Amino acid sequence: MDAVVVRETGGPEVLALDEVELREPRSGELLVEIAAAGVNYIDTYHRSGLYPKDLPFTPGNEGAGTVRALGPDVTGIAVGDHVAWAEVAGSYAQQAIVPASKVIPLPAGVTDEVAAAAMLQGLTAHYLVTSVHAVKPGDTVLVHAAAGGVGLLLVQAAKSRGGKVIGTVSTAAKEALAREAGADEVIRYTETDFAEEVKRLTGGVGVAAVYDGVGKDTFDRSLDCLATRGMMALFGASSGPVPPVDPQRLNVGGSLVLTRPTLGHFIATQEEFRWRCDELFSAITAGRITVRIGARYPLADARQAHEDLEGRRTTGKLLLIP
Ligand SMILES: NC(=O)c1ccc[n+]([C@@H]2O[C@H](COP(=O)([O-])OP(=O)(O)OC[C@H]3O[C@@H](n4cnc5c(N)ncnc54)[C@H](OP(=O)(O)O)[C@@H]3O)[C@@H](O)[C@H]2O)c1
Repeated sequence: MDAVVVRETGGPEVLALDEVELREPRSGELLVEIAAAGVNYIDTYHRSGLYPKDLPFTPGNEGAGTVRALGPDVTGIAVGDHVAWAEVAGSYAQQAIVPASKVIPLPAGVTDEVAAAAMLQGLTAHYLVTSVHAVKPGDTVLVHAAAGGVGLLLVQAAKSRGGKVIGTVSTAAKEALAREAGADEVIRYTETDFAEEVKRLTGGVGVAAVYDGVGKDTFDRSLDCLATRGMMALFGASSGPVPPVDPQRLNVGGSLVLTRPTLGHFIATQEEFRWRCDELFSAITAGRITVRIGARYPLADARQAHEDLEGRRTTGKLLLIP
């Protein structure tokens, strides 16, 4: 089968299409024919070596498709079922071996493409607004990169819990998308000091939480946006990693809370994984959350997908279609 293979870490040019032999599924595993693989920012960290992985490897942690074969001891899933997953390595491929415990069968009304687009970023939005800072009616929260893959879902998730959302984006087109997703206010952080603007918009109080997946360029000023005892949820680094932080900064900022969460810790048990998936898919099928697929690429164009993502040219979700 065809798969993208990274043999050495580096820029997007190290993403090469290759022919790969896939092993048989073992106990508790499925062989899935992939209909769509999600592209996520973390894939760029694996490719560049920022998050080290053993070489060679096939990138991608998210996908959806049709079960073609079952290993021994698989129950509750049949050949022909449509399933999706997040946090299983090797999705930039025509097929993948996936543990049955890590897939979710797709409910009626959720296509392979929507599932592949929603899993990793949708579950992330879900744990951020339910478990990292549980948004409640009346909260004002700040969402950076609000027109991005996580961003658009996070805006909708926070709004559906009754929050008021201030989003940041870099362009007018992205501003329009963030507003369409429900953002009450949108700041062009490339043109305006967003912390000054947040203070103005909140009457000097600040926000209850900042959801910051941008990192280096926004982290410090994000702390200035928080209300007393506010929550700084640093969940990514699309502009680069944040340098070490002096805890005293949290004290003078107003007894702030800083966390650096990651999805794996919020879907570690089957029970929690299924609960979050059920809530996500219910929100999608009920129309409370719309998944925007910003671009689709053939597997051979994974390089282009990474260039576009890192070049800040994308909105919503990017999919590879094998
Ligand atoms: N911790 C977790 O559990 C978890 C899970 C999923 C994703 N994440 C993180 O969430 C973040 C967003 O991921 P995503 O896949 O949804 O990507 P994305 O937000 O669709 O794309 C990144 C966006 O970040 C903004 N950005 C600001 N400065 C940038 C820079 N110097 N270079 C590139 N982009 C820049 C851009 O939006 P503007 O043009 O509007 O500025 C860009 O479109 C990433 O940091 C990712 O690692 C974390």
